[in-house]
Amino acid sequence: FNVPVAKNEPVKSYAPGSPERASLKAKIVELRSSEVEIPMIIGGREVTTDRRIRIAPPHEIKHTLGYYYQGDESHVQMAIDSALDAREKWAAMSWQHRASIFLKAADLLAGPYRDKLNAATMLGQSKNAFQAEIDAACELADFYRFGVKCMTDIYKMQPESAPGIWNYNEFRPLEGFVFALTPFNFTSIAGNLPVAPAMMGNVAVWKPSKTAVYSAAVIMEILQEAGLPDGVINLVFVSGPVAAKVVFGHPEFAGIHFTGSTGVFQGIWKTIGENIYKYKSYPRIVGETGGKDFIFADNTVDRQALAIAMVRGAFEYQGQKCSAASRCYVPESIWDDVKERVGKALATVKMGPPEDFTNFINAVIDESSFDKLAGFIDRAKADDDAEVIFGGNCDKSVGYFIEPTVILAKKPDYETMVEELFGPVLTVYVYEDEKMDETLTILDNTSIYALTGAVMSQDRYNIEKITKRLENAAGNFYINDKPTGAVVGQQPFGGARGSGTDDKAGSVFNFLRWTSIRTIKENF
Ligand code: ALA
Repeated sequence: FNVPVAKNEPVKSYAPGSPERASLKAKIVELRSSEVEIPMIIGGREVTTDRRIRIAPPHEIKHTLGYYYQGDESHVQMAIDSALDAREKWAAMSWQHRASIFLKAADLLAGPYRDKLNAATMLGQSKNAFQAEIDAACELADFYRFGVKCMTDIYKMQPESAPGIWNYNEFRPLEGFVFALTPFNFTSIAGNLPVAPAMMGNVAVWKPSKTAVYSAAVIMEILQEAGLPDGVINLVFVSGPVAAKVVFGHPEFAGIHFTGSTGVFQGIWKTIGENIYKYKSYPRIVGETGGKDFIFADNTVDRQALAIAMVRGAFEYQGQKCSAASRCYVPESIWDDVKERVGKALATVKMGPPEDFTNFINAVIDESSFDKLAGFIDRAKADDDAEVIFGGNCDKSVGYFIEPTVILAKKPDYETMVEELFGPVLTVYVYEDEKMDETLTILDNTSIYALTGAVMSQDRYNIEKITKRLENAAGNFYINDKPTGAVVGQQPFGGARGSGTDDKAGSVFNFLRWTSIRTIKENF
């Protein structure tokens, strides 16, 4: 079990005038003008169809970045067949050789492919350079390197033996194929979901979000260059219902690794239940879903730290991190001061395309997201129970731009305090200082989600009390920090309640889901 020690990939700053900035900018120029054609990759082969779909940057919808080829049910079937064909050899491969492929993939993406993967993420998903760097380059490399560590940590988990008896665990891949259904908001999550099962010897069918096809194709290119055998991971571009029909009806469906919306995951769970008699084994269902992530402050809080946590936590990547702060509870006695600090911080924030590195805010992912967010903002402007105190402008003439918006909710169950918005909108509820306990109960009860949350306070009794009181309100809980930015290997990530199965991405807890253990006992 001698593997290279996993370390987090250092984050580059892309400072003005630095060679790294020049190199990334050159790659952006190249990708912007190349009108790439993106095929599906099935059984290691490029597959095209007669349905070519245009890809446009969310911040510049009239510009054509390239095209991808849309498949149908036959392509999903082909992907499953290729996966099952590859399964026997892949499952039999010794772990060192599997590990070697993913360690090499990490080095490739953090090295020669770093600019390409960052640029594809910046242009395709409208992410600024820093946000792309911590996601596509660093977090994905971390997932692969720490993934190898998880795998070997698991293989070391062995039972006791006894005199005359030798017991051991054999960590088998699941019997069948795994389906990876991946989101747009993190290139790293997209690249991890098919790979974690593959590291444990499974084969996979991978359906990325239609709004993140470009970066998915670059990841696939990297995996192939790293030596991933044909058919182990098969990349298909099909609609959700088309994939669902073929995948969930297949007797060899062995598990799903999902990040996406709660509603879609619930639908998937139901479909799997309806098909349960068809399957050879009980499928593993692993999902990270919605969130209504919070910051709770008391009146001892460092107010500047709170204001910065609110702005960074709510608005980095346009609030489209599953972990983004979207509701904040602030005591009345400090609110005016905190509000002024938030206003000052927001005044320094620029919005525009990510090609201009000074823009902190870029566009939201697509028109349906824009329309949904604009609807919430318009209703808040008109509603007596809410007040838009910062931002509130929305414009989709060039790209899907929504200004960072802060809503003051006059009641704690106002719709934007409760519903997941997935955009640059933060709602603040100001509570009476002496009603902290009641407010904590409200926080815990007003949302179906429990992904991330933060307490901000300088009173250790309060920190302890709030941390205990909110034990079920978040799978990742932060003390005196924003609730975003979990680092692989440091804060295993995932939530419970309506936020997912809490299998903790990038940790052994997740990797254990992708193996079926055979325990062998031998008498001497
Ligand atoms: N790792 C991402 C975050 O914590 C999901 O923001």
